[in-house]
Amino acid sequence: MKIIFQILLAISLAWFWVSVEDRVTRALRILNSNTDKPLKKKILFAFSSDEDIQVQAITLLRELGCSKEDRNQKNICSSILFHFENGLGSELHVTEGFDNIVQISKRISTSKDLGGNAAQMALRAFKEGGDVYLSAIMSNHYYENLFNSSISIIPQSFLREEIRDVHIVINFDEGDIYDTIICQHTNRLYLQNDQDNMRFPGLENLEANINSIHPDLLVIGGFQLMNQKPKKEYQEIILKLEQILIGQKNKLKIHFEMGAFNDENLLLYLIEHIFPHVHSTGMNEQELQLLYNFITKKQLEQQQINTNQQLELIIKLFQELNLERVHFHSQTIQMICSNQNWREIKPALHRSILVGLIQAMKSYNDNQIDQKYLNVTHLQMALEEEDLILYPSNTVLNQDYLIEEMNFCWHLQDQLQHQCCLAPVLINPHPMRTCGLGDNIGSTSLLYQLK
Ligand SMILES: *[C@@H]1O[C@H](CO)[C@@H](O)[C@H](O)[C@H]1NC(C)=O
Ligand SMILES: *[C@@H]1O[C@H](CO)[C@@H](O)[C@H](O)[C@H]1NC(C)=O
Repeated sequence: MKIIFQILLAISLAWFWVSVEDRVTRALRILNSNTDKPLKKKILFAFSSDEDIQVQAITLLRELGCSKEDRNQKNICSSILFHFENGLGSELHVTEGFDNIVQISKRISTSKDLGGNAAQMALRAFKEGGDVYLSAIMSNHYYENLFNSSISIIPQSFLREEIRDVHIVINFDEGDIYDTIICQHTNRLYLQNDQDNMRFPGLENLEANINSIHPDLLVIGGFQLMNQKPKKEYQEIILKLEQILIGQKNKLKIHFEMGAFNDENLLLYLIEHIFPHVHSTGMNEQELQLLYNFITKKQLEQQQINTNQQLELIIKLFQELNLERVHFHSQTIQMICSNQNWREIKPALHRSILVGLIQAMKSYNDNQIDQKYLNVTHLQMALEEEDLILYPSNTVLNQDYLIEEMNFCWHLQDQLQHQCCLAPVLINPHPMRTCGLGDNIGSTSLLYQLK
């Protein structure tokens, strides 16, 4: 009896394993078989580039001499420990002692790489076949090693000996322990004290550049770098940009890439002056919640919400902001809603999911162009074990069906005739890096959807 039971158990375990394995392999095959290619379109990316220095939170905390008593202080240790303990991602502007942190970080860093919304998105758009213009400061080193001459840096004077703005990327993993404090979620914290990016150097020539290049799409991002800056420092920049967007919005598409905002005044200013003039936006689950809670409750708060709640929020937000297009990417799904001014959603969604995998499984940026991702080891489907409920119709979408098809689309019955499509994502729970993942995903889908 016992033996039979064990055999049955072994068979059912094997069956379970095979069927789990099949789902992932099948999903990857579907993603890899996407033959749709983007049209060769001109895209202008602005404004930020930097050098990312990666460190492990525990090593940095130790080097800085932080202890759990620091939690009651107001210093750099308390900021890092707060994010570490609660597993919160954010971007902090640090003035005091930043140079010292940079020196320490350079010594203990695990790697150094090109970062910044505009630079990351430009590199990806180039790899996916776009005609790319980048208006951000770039070093000869990264330009020669990653971009080659096919990306135009505008103005040319932005191509320099080095990128001065450095971001410290502090990585922490669930279960990491520092001085008895336990990290609750894997996440990362950015520290920066940008000088060049803060002046939005590309803004001065933006209008002239648009008029001479005639791009099909302008992508703007990096505004989260202005978190905690005095209002007068960003007011002028944002108002100047607003005037340019108003003048150009009928001639090209404008995409705004969200960021981890933790400054209410800045976010309010962007909602009032920038959002009304953009066609498209992209964000992850943290950014979605921050933005939605801020718009509806005037509060910047985050909590864990499930996929169905995210689906509802993204559509409500999308309609509230009156956008043509939104791309939402989370740990479990990706979803795009757009109208007829944009190309088909499904190929964009599938390529973005694949690019997410490709990007996460390389420890550095490189200049290689990967069409496929073939290694199925460790890949998982991260969707929770429940059916999805589609807002606003409350239609129930069976999860097995969604995983089988890797895509589901429906129409929002609204004036602008939007269609939404969603797909479950494949993830590797042991990524080589998570930095810039959202930028790569967002840039890919934009390119695929440009008409
Ligand atoms: C630059 O990249 C393009 C596109 O990948 C490639 O065709 C070209 O050979 C590269 N040029 C150099 C100098 O590496
Ligand atoms: C496949 O991925 C796993 C971990 O994700 C790695 O250990 C292995 O070396 C990879 N195999 C190949 C052929 O790249």
